[in-house]
Amino acid sequence: MTTATASDFTVPLLGGRAHFLLRRLHSLTGLVFGGYLVVHLLVNATLIEGVRHEGEAGKTVFQIQVDKIHSLPFLPVVETVFIYLPILYHTLYGIWITLTGQPNVNHYSYGKNWFYFFQRVSAVILVFFMLFHILGMKGVFGGDIGRALTFAPLHASQSTVNHFHAGWWVGYFIYPIGILASCYHLANGFWTAAITWGLTVSAEAQRRWGLACAGLFAFTLGCGLLALVSVLGSEVRPLPAEDVPEMRVPIVDVNKAK
Ligand code: HEM
Repeated sequence: MTTATASDFTVPLLGGRAHFLLRRLHSLTGLVFGGYLVVHLLVNATLIEGVRHEGEAGKTVFQIQVDKIHSLPFLPVVETVFIYLPILYHTLYGIWITLTGQPNVNHYSYGKNWFYFFQRVSAVILVFFMLFHILGMKGVFGGDIGRALTFAPLHASQSTVNHFHAGWWVGYFIYPIGILASCYHLANGFWTAAITWGLTVSAEAQRRWGLACAGLFAFTLGCGLLALVSVLGSEVRPLPAEDVPEMRVPIVDVNKAK
């Protein structure tokens, strides 16, 4: 008698025995960053108020929120621990999951299979979108476009308006896609995370939580689009050069180089 064993075509589990923990950490970091994203989009939505210019009394709600964030003690540590490290881990492990995943929408065209597929499509978009968003805001890109993209904390609303007008493709192409991808990935991620943590076991529980997540998608997308429409409808104005943070790329000073 022979015992036939099927050859193993499965991809090796990353982390071997630690796979379970690594996977939970991926879910947890997604949730932590997701919580941050909801707050981020809410604050951005206050841009609907418009920009207040020199001489006009008071600060915009957006500027007040930015000031509060920038006055937090140990801000670089807080940012690193609660924002950069979680999303870095989530992204790196997420890339591995995406590369080793096996979408089956061409065989089984069920709604949930499409959700799974778009979770990965949105993840790939997010890798490039977040790089552009963070590096652009931090002033890493050079030239006139890089300067227009740079966020100036002292002129939070106006520098955000200038950022979106740095090129037509910023406000009318990159951000609409990036916002849609972020809100979809966030809402569908919250839906699957409840399964990961064993909170929605029955089909009925998953259906009800699905409605809540659809609401979250609509709400966050609404906030994101509100901010987008507000900044696109506002006027670009140059900022005082001394208030724009220095470019973080080495710029050759022609006079010194001589
Ligand atoms: C806006 C930023 C992001 C947020 C808020 C976020 C949030 C989440 C959440 C909450 C989950 C559900 C975890 C679970 O099912 O237990 C998830 C899943 C996932 N995320 Fe993200 N994520 C973000 C960016 C990224 C990026 C940049 C990648 C890079 C590839 C990525 C890759 C993935 C993948 C592949 C899954 C599916 C995991 C699975 O089905 O097992 N995510 N994300």
